[in-house]
Amino acid sequence: MNVLGIESSCDETSVAIISNEKLTANLISSQDFHSKYGGVVPELSSRAHLQIVIPLVKDALKKSGLNLNDIDVICSTAGPGLIGALLVGLTFAKGLSYSLNKPFVAVNHIEGHIFSGFLMEDKPEFPFLALVVSGGHTLLLLVESFTVVKKLGTTVDDAAGEAFDKVAKMLGFGYPGGPKIQTAALDGDAGKINFPVAELKDPYNFSFSGLKTAVLRYIQKNYPGVQNIPGNDLKDIAASFQNAVVKALIRNTEKALNNYDVNSVSLVGGVAANKALRESMIGLAGKYGKKIVIPGLEFCGDNAAMIAFRGARLYETGYRSGLDYSPFPGLSSEHFS
Ligand SMILES: Nc1ncnc2c1ncn2[C@@H]1O[C@H](COP(=O)(O)OP(=O)(O)OP(=O)(O)O)[C@@H](O)[C@H]1O
Ligand SMILES: [Mg+2]
Repeated sequence: MNVLGIESSCDETSVAIISNEKLTANLISSQDFHSKYGGVVPELSSRAHLQIVIPLVKDALKKSGLNLNDIDVICSTAGPGLIGALLVGLTFAKGLSYSLNKPFVAVNHIEGHIFSGFLMEDKPEFPFLALVVSGGHTLLLLVESFTVVKKLGTTVDDAAGEAFDKVAKMLGFGYPGGPKIQTAALDGDAGKINFPVAELKDPYNFSFSGLKTAVLRYIQKNYPGVQNIPGNDLKDIAASFQNAVVKALIRNTEKALNNYDVNSVSLVGGVAANKALRESMIGLAGKYGKKIVIPGLEFCGDNAAMIAFRGARLYETGYRSGLDYSPFPGLSSEHFS
C-alpha cells in the first residue's frame, strides 16, 4: 500500500510517502522568509504552500520510484492550524483523490504529532504517556491505543513553543525562537535566575504566561532603557528560562508516571527538538524504568511523514473522509477528553 501524506498547517509544506510501511520520502520546505516579520504571516504562508506543493509531490514520487497512479490513499492535515494554509494542502489532496479516484483521509495534525514516535525504529509501546510540546499546544496525554487517547493536562494559556518564541523576541533573537534560545542557553547559567514554575490546582495542567511575564519584568528591572543586553546576561536569561520550562514539563510528566501504569513515554512536537528537554525526559523515563521514544529532529517539527502514518492507521480501521471535509483552526475542548 502506498500512502501519500500532505502537511500545510503553518509555515512548513511537507509531502511524504509511506510505501508498504516504509517511509520512502519526507520532504519538508520551510518558509524561512517569515523571520523578517517576527512571526508567520498567514497570507504569505498560503501563497508559498500553493507554489511548492506540486513540485514537492513530484519530487516525493520520484524519490520513492512511484507514479501518481501507484498511490492508494491520500492523507492531508485538516487542522488545527492557519485556515488559509490548511486549505491549500487539504484542497489539493481532495482534488487528487477525486481525479485519481482514490480514498481520502483527513488527519488531525496533533494526532500526527502524538504518533510520530512510531516513525522511529524503536516504537512506543501502549499504553504510553505522550507529552506534545509544540508552537500551538502543550498536552499531556495517556495514549492507550491508536484510537483511545485521554487528555490528562493542557496549558491554560501559552503553549511551550509559543513561550519560547515570545521570550526569544524579548531577547531580540527573532523567530522562530526555540532553537535560538537553545543555542544561547548552551553557555548560560541555568541557575542564575530563579524564574517561577507555575503550580496549578489541576496537577497535570501547565501555565507559561506568568513565566513569560517574569522574564519581561526581569529585563525591565535590570536593564531599563538598555538597547542591547550584554551577551553573557542574555545567555543566563535564556538558560534560566529554558530551565523553568523544562522543570514544568518534567514535573507534570513525573506526576503522571506516579499515577498511571504505562509502558513508554514519548516526547513529541517542535519543542521536543530541545536538547535540554530531551535529556531531562530521558533521565525521567530512566528513573521510572520506562521506555522513552523521542522522534528524530525531522519528525519533531511539522512533517508529512507523521500525517501519512496517522492517515494509514485511520484508513486501516476503515476510516474515510468525504470530499466535503472542511479545515478547522483549533482543537475542540472535547478532543482527547
Ligand atoms: N530546539 C528547540 N527548543 C525549543 N523550542 C523549539 C526548538 N525547535 C523548535 N522549537 C519550537 O517549536 C515550535 C514549532 O513546533 P511545531 O512546528 O510542532 O508547532 P506548530 O505546528 O506551529 O504548532 P502545533 O503543532 O501546535 O499546531 C516553535 O514554537 C519553535 O520555537
Ligand atoms: Mg505542529
